[in-house]
Amino acid sequence: MEVIKKIAEMKEISLCLKREGKSIGLVPTMGYLHEGHLSLIKTARRENDIIIMSNFVNPLQFGPKEDFATYPRDPDRDNKLAESAGVDYVFGPTSEEMYPQGYCTYIEVNGPMVEKMCGKSRPGHFKGVTTVVLKLFLITQPDRAYFGQKDAQQAIIVRKMVTDLNVPVKIITCPIVREEDGLALSSRNTYLSSEERIQALALPRALSAGRDMILKGETDPLKVKQHITSILASSPGIRLDYVEVVNGDDLSDLSAIKGKVLLAAAVYVGKTRLIDNIDLEV
Ligand code: PAJ
Repeated sequence: MEVIKKIAEMKEISLCLKREGKSIGLVPTMGYLHEGHLSLIKTARRENDIIIMSNFVNPLQFGPKEDFATYPRDPDRDNKLAESAGVDYVFGPTSEEMYPQGYCTYIEVNGPMVEKMCGKSRPGHFKGVTTVVLKLFLITQPDRAYFGQKDAQQAIIVRKMVTDLNVPVKIITCPIVREEDGLALSSRNTYLSSEERIQALALPRALSAGRDMILKGETDPLKVKQHITSILASSPGIRLDYVEVVNGDDLSDLSAIKGKVLLAAAVYVGKTRLIDNIDLEV
């Protein structure tokens, strides 16, 4: 496995691989790898000749009061894990390499799918995500790019960008990997104290209760949303950010529960913001 820090070198390698007819799978990450990231790499490994994993904590997608400075970083450990999962190239540029002095070009998906959920709570976040993801696509020339359902809104917005801009990359969404007790894996879980770690379980528990309500026949999205909200509101240590019950393809509002449905929520446990979701087909 090779670690590449320069855009020019990564681009040269990718274009060379393309000329040789190799298929490239890209797994974009911000590092501090866990089994969720590794599941994307393993899926990509099965479907492509070459795997590129990017490891870049993207300053553009963090708000001024968010955790960019303290975001956990351990590139040496990441490189070992990436290599054993089958990555061929890690692309790990510096911020200055990606956004040099005078950088001023941004990619922005607009409309309802970015105005709700994390887009509402984190203004500018998805503009940062789509800008870095398109740059990564242009630098690494992937045939396929792998995203986690954990960040369902991110995957939907990236898919929309790719469709609208005719980007020749297939977006593949992979299932959420959870701890045995149900907590979705996240690099931010390391922020949790042992007490908060237990309190955080209210998030998957509340979403599962919403899913059970639907499986028992509830068709009113508002009632499901209220049920999830009431569980979270009465859970110790949890401060609610949002709960949504929306169309799982495009995050549009539902008048009744039918087809692809996404139950999504974000909460604060202490200072840590956690997101989770369950998708189902009714
Ligand atoms: P990061 O949070 O590092 O996540 C990288 C990828 O891993 C994302 O596609 C995310 O959805 C996926 N992932 C995270 N936790 C997961 C879990 N428990 N199960 C399955 N997949 C999981 O998302 C980002 O980085 C950034 O926004 C990025 C796309 C790299 C752009 O900067």
